[in-house]
Formats: sequence, structure tokens, C-alpha cells
Amino acid sequence: MYIHKLKIGDVELENNIILAPMAGITDRAFRIICKKYGDIGLTCTEMISSRALYYNDQKTKALLNTSKEKRPISFQIFGNDPEIMGYAAKIISKQADIIDINFGCPAPKVVKNGDGSRLLLDPKLVGKIVKSVVKNTTKPVTAKIRKGWNSENITAVEVAKEIEQAGASAITVHGRTREEYYSRACRFRNY
Ligand SMILES: Cc1cc2nc3c(=O)[nH]c(=O)nc-3n(C[C@H](O)[C@H](O)[C@H](O)COP(=O)(O)O)c2cc1C
Repeated sequence: MYIHKLKIGDVELENNIILAPMAGITDRAFRIICKKYGDIGLTCTEMISSRALYYNDQKTKALLNTSKEKRPISFQIFGNDPEIMGYAAKIISKQADIIDINFGCPAPKVVKNGDGSRLLLDPKLVGKIVKSVVKNTTKPVTAKIRKGWNSENITAVEVAKEIEQAGASAITVHGRTREEYYSRACRFRNY
């Protein structure tokens, strides 16, 4: 892999190695270990529910603790209500160096609420969510998407254009559809 410095908005990363956000894995202890033993440019939190922040859920608020951690850290939030996502952005802006939005989670409990990868079926709503987050923070905003919902709905390009127009600084693509979940090789061929 070609290792080089990377700039996301006004945040300068030492290198382009980025810890993938993983629910249940990339907690504070894991991020500290990764930074200590690996030369990584950016760490990322687990995904954080904007709705839970809105309702002041204490367990969710604990996910915002980054004391004694090396920076920069990206905070990932999810949700489908632009206003609530804007509220969450305002709250986490105090701690986050970058705010990442999750448009890729395939878990049934997430998509059944219209969150995560379900939003890949509604590019216009994706645009509204990103716009609201950008409006409510001074930090760079990024988004994580998948190729699409399934092989009949490959929406990554349409979604990416909405994200770009809404003012995001970078996009990460998980090269699978929601239907592919975590199986099959990540790829863009054959579409
Ligand atoms: C246990 C687990 C939890 C994950 N949680 C998240 C998450 O919270 N947010 C997110 O954007 N991606 C999440 N992902 C996806 C990863 O960040 C990554 O994009 C995906 O695993 C593709 O990389 P791979 O093919 O090397 O697994 C998760 C993946 C795994 C395996």
C-alpha cells in the first residue's frame, strides 16, 4: 500500500492508514492499543446513535469519552432525521476532530428503523442529512457508504454526488451491497 500524508478538511493526518469504525470493537481501549502499537493516521469511534444522544441516553454518552487518547479521532454517528443528526453533530463537535456519518450499516435492527444502509435507497434524504450535519459543526464531515442496497440498486455514485454537494470533505466506500452483508470479496467489478 502506498503510505502518504492525508488532509481531510483542515485536519492533517500523519498517514492514510485509518482504523475502520466497528461497532462493539473500536471502543476507547481498542483505539488506545491501536495508536500505541500501530502507526495509524486516524482512529474512529463505534457508531453512535443520534437519536440516543438526542434523548440523553447515558450509555451512549459514555461512548464520547476520549480522555488520554491521541488525536485525531473521527466520531461516527447514524440516524435518518436531519434535525436530530444536526443536534448530534453539535453535541459531538466538542470532542470530535472529524464527524463521520454511517450510511453502510446492514444490521436488521438498524435498517428497519430506516438508518444505516437503508438510506442508500434515498439519496435525496442522504443529502439533507449531510447538509444538516455540516451546518451544525465547524469540523470536517465525512460519510461511509456501501455500493448500494442490492445488485438491482447500486446507488453509490448518486449517493456520493449528494454527499459531495452537501459539503462533505471525504467519502469511504465499503465495496459491498447491503445484501452482501460482510460476505463475498469487496469489489466494484461486474456492476
Ligand atoms: C464487527 C464489525 C463491526 C462493524 N461496525 C461498523 C460501524 O459501526 N460503522 C461502519 O461504518 N462500519 C462498520 N463495519 C464495517 C467495517 O468498518 C468495514 O468497512 C468492513 O468490515 C469492510 O472491511 P473488510 O472487508 O476488511 O471486513 C463493521 C465491521 C465489522 C466486521
